Amino acid sequence: MLHGKRILLIISGGIAAYKSLDLIRRLRERGTAVRCVLTDSATQFVTPLSVSALSEDRVYGDLFSLTDEAEIGHIQLSRDADLLVVAPATTNIMAKMAQGIGDDLATTVLLATDKDVLVAPSMNVRMWEHAATQTNIATLKSRGIWFAGPTEGAMACGEFGEGRMVEPLEVLAEIESYFTTSAPLAGRRAIVTSGPTLEAIDPVRYIANRSSGKQGHAIAAALAHMGAETILVTGPTNETAPAGVDVRHIESAREMYDVCVGALPADIAVCAAAVADWRPARQGDRKIKKEKGAAPPSIEMVENPDILRTLSSAGNQRPALVVGFAAETGDLIANATAKLMRKECDWIVANDVSADTGTFGGDTNTVHLITANGSEDWPVMRKNEVADRLAERIAGRFNQSTEAVG
Ligand code: C5P
Repeated sequence: MLHGKRILLIISGGIAAYKSLDLIRRLRERGTAVRCVLTDSATQFVTPLSVSALSEDRVYGDLFSLTDEAEIGHIQLSRDADLLVVAPATTNIMAKMAQGIGDDLATTVLLATDKDVLVAPSMNVRMWEHAATQTNIATLKSRGIWFAGPTEGAMACGEFGEGRMVEPLEVLAEIESYFTTSAPLAGRRAIVTSGPTLEAIDPVRYIANRSSGKQGHAIAAALAHMGAETILVTGPTNETAPAGVDVRHIESAREMYDVCVGALPADIAVCAAAVADWRPARQGDRKIKKEKGAAPPSIEMVENPDILRTLSSAGNQRPALVVGFAAETGDLIANATAKLMRKECDWIVANDVSADTGTFGGDTNTVHLITANGSEDWPVMRKNEVADRLAERIAGRFNQSTEAVG
């Protein structure tokens, strides 16, 4: 479950920092990449050298280190991880998180991140029970921050009560449950195509189609939401770029092909774009003029590269799961099943795009999921619901133990 995942571990200055050394070791044993940020006071409890040796990486600590910023900026540091873990979390760092204070590398990273954060508090029972701490915790929970512990027990200061950091194995269990429930596709890389392609006739005219990109964009958003590193390759649409998605704009099928192939390797490919099957054989570099008395021009067409088929037969670069779309106006299931075979993809999402369905450009879709096991009819749903359900199915497919690429 944790293999190939990337954790950014922030260690703040508490006596329980020694437990984080064990946590790093256990994460590494499971094939998790662990990058560590230490606060100044953390270095009083554990040495950067031991953290570095166990994490097998360098340790970050100084916000104003020119070398660090040149090698990997603090914004990048916060975004490169699948999950941020603060362990141990002192009352001080939690107060700063609640207030939005960024006065060192650790707190700046916590402010700059777009990833989820798991916190394992560690402090004296009276500090834990203090109204200020409890208010900060309520604020952090309301923002979706996860907590592991604390537990009750004997404290380093000789008192007894709640405030002890949970044991490393319990933090590990929380991290595992996070990945299974919230970000089941973390560490996976997905390529999604969306929208129409435009095939130029001359510098001002082109052939296009009615695809709005709504379904493809919603799928990219759903995969990114589940933690996948998502590249959306899209033709011109009116859709806004989904949050956390790397959007690459293209116009022609050949450009889409180049970007998709260049984005390999990937674990998942979902080809939802309405790629033009043909393009004008010649694209004049001047506008075709309407000459008086001349017959209308005829446009010779040639076939475009098939992106879905190419990705499905990409040898050792083939994504573990390739999903195609089949927009049909008749014999939906039979045509889509034939397409599954012909394109050598794993699944086909078949939808009826007959004029009366309103699928093109509309907000709802009626689809059938076709796999090697047959076809499933899904009820009419909003396109973002179709996307969420498809992303859940994809996550379910990866819940077995396929290894992430790269
Ligand atoms: O053969 P047809 O165009 O109907 O197949 C549709 C599926 O193939 C869609 O998933 C579409 O994105 C993909 N496709 C492609 N490259 C093409 C044509 C279609 O990826 N040149």
